[in-house]
Amino acid sequence: MKTVSDRSVTELAAEAGELNHQLIHALEQAGRITTPEIAAAFRATPRHLFVPDVELSEAYKDDYQPTDRDGDGRLLSSVSAPWLVAQMLEYLRPQPGNSVLEIGSGGYNAALLHQLVGDAGAVTSIDIDPAVTSRARRCLRAAGLEDAVRIVTGDGAHGVPDAAPYDRIEVTVQAAAIEQAWLDQLDPKGVLVVPLRVRGLGRLVALTPNGEGHYSGGGWLPCGFVAMRGEAASSTRMHALTPGARVRVDGTQPLDPEALAKALDTTGTPRWSGVEVGSSEGTRPVIDLWFATVLDTYGTLLTDPKESALRALPGGTPLTWTTDSTAAAYVTMRPVEEKSDRYEYGVILHGDDQALAETLVESLREWDRDHRGRPGPVLHVYDEGTDPATMALGRSLERPGAPMVLTWPKS
Ligand SMILES: C[S@@+](CC[C@H](N)C(=O)[O-])C[C@H]1O[C@@H](n2cnc3c(N)ncnc32)[C@H](O)[C@@H]1O
Repeated sequence: MKTVSDRSVTELAAEAGELNHQLIHALEQAGRITTPEIAAAFRATPRHLFVPDVELSEAYKDDYQPTDRDGDGRLLSSVSAPWLVAQMLEYLRPQPGNSVLEIGSGGYNAALLHQLVGDAGAVTSIDIDPAVTSRARRCLRAAGLEDAVRIVTGDGAHGVPDAAPYDRIEVTVQAAAIEQAWLDQLDPKGVLVVPLRVRGLGRLVALTPNGEGHYSGGGWLPCGFVAMRGEAASSTRMHALTPGARVRVDGTQPLDPEALAKALDTTGTPRWSGVEVGSSEGTRPVIDLWFATVLDTYGTLLTDPKESALRALPGGTPLTWTTDSTAAAYVTMRPVEEKSDRYEYGVILHGDDQALAETLVESLREWDRDHRGRPGPVLHVYDEGTDPATMALGRSLERPGAPMVLTWPKS
């Protein structure tokens, strides 16, 4: 099998051009690229130069390419998937002449950023891993862009203060918090795009400053990213419960895994909400985010249907529990009779706390009544030290770094 490095330059140019054309077309068809400037940047950036060790067709697949793993095989670095790179640029909207900071370097996205800001702009990219930065430099050199992008090795949690302020800051690694340094280094008219972990859920958000140490935004595209390393590293916890069932939790919350496992081992009682959704409506990500906001105790229940009788939804389902963990309830769905593409949301209660199930069912109805089909929550971020009394009223996400509050406006 021939890798990119084995082919002749002319052979490559023709094949790569065609594959890139097909990739861009598919991204446009899927609505991942909607801005002509972003399509043009993709056309001008041969992706195979940034993943030179794989087969040419692989380089233009709409998938991420792993570039580094730890001793246990966990992914540490990758060149991100084209659909996600495109969506992040759509959120970021870099303009000609902008100064941009990228946190997490693969080379490919930095090259696209250069195409978008042009020679009058500036791109700085920082990665914590020296192997990643040397690799990115090598790839940029192969693309003739070594002078177009400044690559820095260091912890991106501190940004790169010497070139601040930035018109755009794009974080390309999953962050559990918004770092004050990013806010400090963002131009007052700037945009900060971050794949944020919100109570264990990976979501892409775009934030803009509103003045007086307040930043707000949304977006909420579900996305998976490697987690941040260095000073801002933080991880979720996974607890094994009953056979084939686990819960993923984030942040500090009362949880006794043994008591919770005991509760989930009892027979569950379903309660249905009357909230019906279409199978192609795509409500799951927003329902997860809704419950992550409204529930005090919140985790994602993950089950293996071959081993577990619990009816968690594929990919994980919102789970809540009483503070002593002796009762729990989770979100589920059932097909609506005689409507092949309709499902009804409901709740399964384990244990005696009827109020727990009632709260979830009422929450489903509230979402349906007030928020369904609307843009979703607003993320408010404040400079460190802001008086909490001046902040929006909503779910505060307890993290180090800048305080964050999630609200769900009704209109
Ligand atoms: C998904 S990759 C970046 C992809 C890249 N932007 C591209 O062009 O496809 C995430 C990168 O973030 C880096 N990273 C992790 N923690 C970091 C930190 N604290 N500061 C800077 N980079 C970090 C990892 O080493 C990894 O290379």
